Amino acid sequence: MAEATIGGGAEQVSFTEAGLRFEVDGEIATITLDRPERRNAQTFATWSALADIGDTLPGQVRVVVIRGEGPSFSAGIDLRMFTPEGVPGQGSFAAVATLDGPALEQRIAQAQRGFLWLRRPEIVSVAAVQGHAIGAGFQLALACDLRVLADDAQLCMKEPALGLVPDLTGTKPLVDLVGPSRAVEICLTARTVAAEEAARIGLAELVVAPGELTEAVRDLAAALLATPRDAATATKRLLHGAPGRTLEEQSAAERHEQAARVKALFARS
Ligand code: CAA
Repeated sequence: MAEATIGGGAEQVSFTEAGLRFEVDGEIATITLDRPERRNAQTFATWSALADIGDTLPGQVRVVVIRGEGPSFSAGIDLRMFTPEGVPGQGSFAAVATLDGPALEQRIAQAQRGFLWLRRPEIVSVAAVQGHAIGAGFQLALACDLRVLADDAQLCMKEPALGLVPDLTGTKPLVDLVGPSRAVEICLTARTVAAEEAARIGLAELVVAPGELTEAVRDLAAALLATPRDAATATKRLLHGAPGRTLEEQSAAERHEQAARVKALFARS
């Protein structure tokens, strides 16, 4: 699987080039950021590969785990992108900056596709985070439904300190989880949030010893899979829609989902 070619569009990249491994075991898919020698730094190829995985995810998959090989979950964007030479075969920010506004935004939209599918109702995505999750690494963890942290995890939104904004879909989940004031403080100071604080302020569901991370995620996946798929999908859809609805609207959405469930479970054919 590691050498497979991905990318139905213009960018054909291998999983190896993208720094990823992708494995499916029954109802669980595991995406491993696999460039530990660069602390799993991410490139345009990484984001294209993530988008392609989302596009072609086998229908039986219900839980998607994202993990990092080595001491860090991900040190964020590959810093070679900031050099004039860029990342071989993938350009640089200097090259991207020559695009006109709409084309530049389109390039960013392509990158965001790698993150957005992780919130689909039919799956539950889980980030297993050890060590550093910086910038794009933190945003990838935020793109997941759930975060399980090793107690050595260190989260940092570095983008504003580099003169940029977090643009890989991370600002909304961050604000949803910690509120706008804490989000401003975390982003504009670019400080490190350690695992214990992350759990306290809602950025993590669980904190475990580093040696227990894999098992904790496996146990969580098993518990998630114990719930019937259609009910889980409908409930996730309901919960994700809740912040944007009034109480009355949400009650109507509950009725709508439940009517479908009751019919599916109890209607005689
Ligand atoms: N890009 C490319 N290479 C990286 C990298 C990155 N983001 N992070 C680490 N590496 C490389 C290092 O250059 C080093 O390579 P060599 O062995 O060839 O010297 C190797 O990985 C190991 O790194 P360290 O020796 O620094 O490892 P460490 O464990 O002591 O420290 C770290 C880990 C704290 C993550 C540190 O490497 C670091 O601060 N990295 C940079 C983090 C960063 O600023 N990322 C950008 C965030 S912004 C973003 O992601 C989004 C955006 O759009 C801008």
